[in-house]
Amino acid sequence: MTASLIRRAISICNDIKFPAVRASLSIRSNIRGRLIHRNYTVAKEITLTMGDKTLPQIFKFVDQNASSYKNLLKEAVAIPSVSCDIKYRNDCVRMVEWTQEKLKEVGATTQLRDVGYQTIDGQKVKLPPVLVGVLGNDPKKNTICIYGHLDVQPALKSDGWDTEPFELVERNDKLYGRGSTDDKGPVLGWLHAINAYKGIGEELPVNLKFVFECMEESGSEGLDELLMEKLKPEGFFDTVDYVCISDNYWLGTSKPCITYGLRGISYYFLEIECAKMDLHSGVFGGTVHEAMSDLIYLMNQLVDKDGKILITDIYKSVAPLTDTEKKLYSTIDFDTVSYRESIGAHKLAHNGDKEQILMHRWRYPSLSLHGIEGAAFQPGAKTVIPGKVIGKFSIRIVPNQEPEEVEKLVFDYVNKKWAERGSPNKMRITAQSGRAWTENPDHPHYQAAARATRLIYQTEPDMSREGGSIPVTITLQEASGRNVLLLPMGAGDDMAHSQNEKINVRNYIEGIKLFAAYMHEVGKLAK
Ligand code: BES
Ligand code: MN
Ligand code: MN
Repeated sequence: MTASLIRRAISICNDIKFPAVRASLSIRSNIRGRLIHRNYTVAKEITLTMGDKTLPQIFKFVDQNASSYKNLLKEAVAIPSVSCDIKYRNDCVRMVEWTQEKLKEVGATTQLRDVGYQTIDGQKVKLPPVLVGVLGNDPKKNTICIYGHLDVQPALKSDGWDTEPFELVERNDKLYGRGSTDDKGPVLGWLHAINAYKGIGEELPVNLKFVFECMEESGSEGLDELLMEKLKPEGFFDTVDYVCISDNYWLGTSKPCITYGLRGISYYFLEIECAKMDLHSGVFGGTVHEAMSDLIYLMNQLVDKDGKILITDIYKSVAPLTDTEKKLYSTIDFDTVSYRESIGAHKLAHNGDKEQILMHRWRYPSLSLHGIEGAAFQPGAKTVIPGKVIGKFSIRIVPNQEPEEVEKLVFDYVNKKWAERGSPNKMRITAQSGRAWTENPDHPHYQAAARATRLIYQTEPDMSREGGSIPVTITLQEASGRNVLLLPMGAGDDMAHSQNEKINVRNYIEGIKLFAAYMHEVGKLAK
């Protein structure tokens, strides 16, 4: 009781450097203790850990064990757990089971939860199980729920990789391999951080709960239902105080950040069929209404050359930009020139204006055209009229756009354009969506993560949002009713999903320390 009062009281003067001064001030501020307790924006930091040797010992342990941490990442990367291709479904299951063993090795109790089936091209395919774990149940400690994903995007050396994508290769202090940064490195980072506490014979400062899935890159099928209809009623979230996800990246290459927002995604398949098979263009060209011309026509109605989305009313529900929010963008450290150069683009949208670029990544929707199934994309002059083509595009959605509303606007718009086109062909459009997420970064949880980050990187992290999507984030927020944060391990140039995905050795190893320090800081937050 007394300890917790002192804890809260000391927090109000946590910018004072000398412990003695803090202690004396704490007695006075005790009087106001109750008020402070209710004020969420005040960091509830204890400074009684002065002289605490735990973290330095952990950091040393992590450095000493760096090569074994790299080896484990090598093992994980070698399992090609590609979730979008059912050819690799057994590897996905193997990846979940491999991680289950590692989780058991650090002392967690684990369960593989069945999430049923998915339907691909009319075929029913079993989904990989979700790995759920619990480590510690001390009622005096805070409990963090950690989410991560074990699946990866497809990769072939012939896509243009310099080395085999599923063989982790260390070159120039970087670890190259599919999943190294998205998201196998960060998932293993948690296990290594726990291992380090054990390694120095220290108790974990928090209880942990884990949700590791293997379908994130394919829309996390089955996961929402598991969380809301099974785990929540079973009481899994009852003891959870904080939720942490490490599945994103720094904004740039040198400055860490903590992330409080993600865009959602609304993904569309636009199918047009003109014949029941592909046709010789010399024989049939000039005699049929071609599906591909219809599709290109429709796809070209979606977005203009500057990225403005042309779908009627699509911007209507976008959260208005407030003055306070507008100011946030100017303080963010972001170099648009190196961002542009890193991808080899000639010119960025919005004249390369930093604030506009950040806003259009984080808080405005964007529409991308991804590809066309059935089109003759392979090299060579194929003279065919495709019988059926499926155009793929998506909209990154933002607060306060809801998937159902966006889908309706897109369907209505495409139907209208289709009517205008007046084609006799068959058109069908389907969608799958995940919601956007934002959190309050002005929260002791974020302050704890910021202290951990400062300790590791000796710099103040930016509070950032992300343009990418992790559909389960908002579900975890709603299921737990707790503050959620994203704590990235990798750097902005890691090239997730792309050729030569990598994680810097520094980010991997310091990231493990960051997770250990984050647990330490959350352990100090008032219960
Ligand atoms: N790790 C990413 C999410 C992400 C991307 C965070 C970019 C920060 C920046 C995640 O693995 C991912 O790729 N998500 C998909 C979700 C989709 C398949 C539903 C995405 O954003 O495309
Ligand atoms: Mn990811
Ligand atoms: Mn990804």
